[in-house]
Amino acid sequence: MPATCVVGLQWGDEAKGKIVDLLTEQFDIVVRYQGGANAGHTVVFGGEKFKLSLIPSGIFRPDVQCVIAGGVVINPATLIAEIDHLTGRGIRVERNLMISDRAHVIFPWHVEEDRLLDRQCSAGENIGTTMRGIGPCYRDKVGRSLAVRLGDLYRDRFREQIEQILDAKNQLFAALAGSEWTKLDAGAVYDEYRSYAERLRPHVADTTAYLLSAVEADDRILFEGAQGALLDIDHGTFPFVTSSNSSGVGVSPGAGVPARYLTKVLGIVKAYCTRVGGGPFPTEQDNEIGQLIRDRGNEYGTVTRRPRRCGWFDAVAARYTARLSGADSLAVMLLDVLSTFPELKICTAYEIDGRRTTDFPSHVDDLRRAVPLYETMPGWQAEITGARSPGELPQAAREYLARIAQLVGRPVELVSVGPDRQQTIRMA
Ligand code: GDP
Ligand code: IMO
Ligand code: MG
Repeated sequence: MPATCVVGLQWGDEAKGKIVDLLTEQFDIVVRYQGGANAGHTVVFGGEKFKLSLIPSGIFRPDVQCVIAGGVVINPATLIAEIDHLTGRGIRVERNLMISDRAHVIFPWHVEEDRLLDRQCSAGENIGTTMRGIGPCYRDKVGRSLAVRLGDLYRDRFREQIEQILDAKNQLFAALAGSEWTKLDAGAVYDEYRSYAERLRPHVADTTAYLLSAVEADDRILFEGAQGALLDIDHGTFPFVTSSNSSGVGVSPGAGVPARYLTKVLGIVKAYCTRVGGGPFPTEQDNEIGQLIRDRGNEYGTVTRRPRRCGWFDAVAARYTARLSGADSLAVMLLDVLSTFPELKICTAYEIDGRRTTDFPSHVDDLRRAVPLYETMPGWQAEITGARSPGELPQAAREYLARIAQLVGRPVELVSVGPDRQQTIRMA
């Protein structure tokens, strides 16, 4: 499929990195189109484990061009550290990475704003952000007057731009943080970011023009979503979301590629649900079931190491996000984690104020009151990490997958039974 999108259909960490790495061999270009270093994508092969934040998970195939598109927000220090780390481990990054000059740049004040403002979230509970400055950078992008794009770092006006922004930011922080805030010096910030700019110069390009030519030439492009559709700024569980369009609808604004070129969307789900940070989670198991999932799935944040909240598969939510993202089919990940349970539950509907519904509520207060209605299915108590074909899965596991497909309304194309590239089953 010339232009395919891999997108998470839950609250992130669905193992998108593993699938992108796996599929990359069929593509020429892999593109990150939104989010930033709030993402932590894990790729495991040949006994080695890599964690990626900004660099597309296609980077391990030397013939593939990786692109960080304009919809991504970039902390240059983090990106350079990631390039150095990969290079140090023998991965060729220099010629394979292109970064959009339209991408917005994260500065120290964004990280500081993240820290100061998350503790005062208006919805009564903290969002629990990754503290990477993602939301504040996107806020400045939309606000425009205090924003800097990567391409600005190479212009004569950059010094003046920093001075202007710091005038405003220093006042803002004096009001927000009082004596806790040490004024930032424009000269020091300028020097630091100019040195990052020089380091990144060989990678910086107009990726929109590049990608438009690529789709017009029928090049094979894989778009790698970050976060998950339930964290989408417009269509997720607002305000407990991230600050970009992390569902399938984000490809077009983020990459600058018209939606009509997308030929396939692969929706990634875990065989259960997890969430990091605040916000409602109807099927959460804040008990020994959740703990067992956390232990077996090693459910601790890739970026922040926070324990992930764990619960049963929510088919109401997944059906909504599969439709929203235009998913053609599903990859069901971490199925092996469930191997221990005598029975499994799937949420098939919610009851909200005594009314049964299969519609995912648009307001977070309604979602908070949603009582999950479950269907119980038999589990399988056999290890499945060695299975490589559908026939090698226990009957109960195949029935569990079939029920997920039926409830979500999409066929299961891939199943993952372990972190390694090889631990993957093609269902059709
Ligand atoms: P992403 O952000 O969507 O790329 O996902 P993360 O990398 O944050 O989290 C997924 C985690 O699950 C990583 O530690 C993967 O190595 C691991 N993983 C991926 N697939 C499987 C699987 O099928 N089984 C198990 N047990 N672990 C998996
Ligand atoms: P990947 O790409 C899981 C969550 C944070 C928080 C909310 C807002 O690895 O799936 P932010 O820092 O973006 O302002 O935080 O979104 N979050 C993620 N949760 N996986 C991610 O990325 C996430 N990126 C952000 O925990 O609840
Ligand atoms: Mg992750």
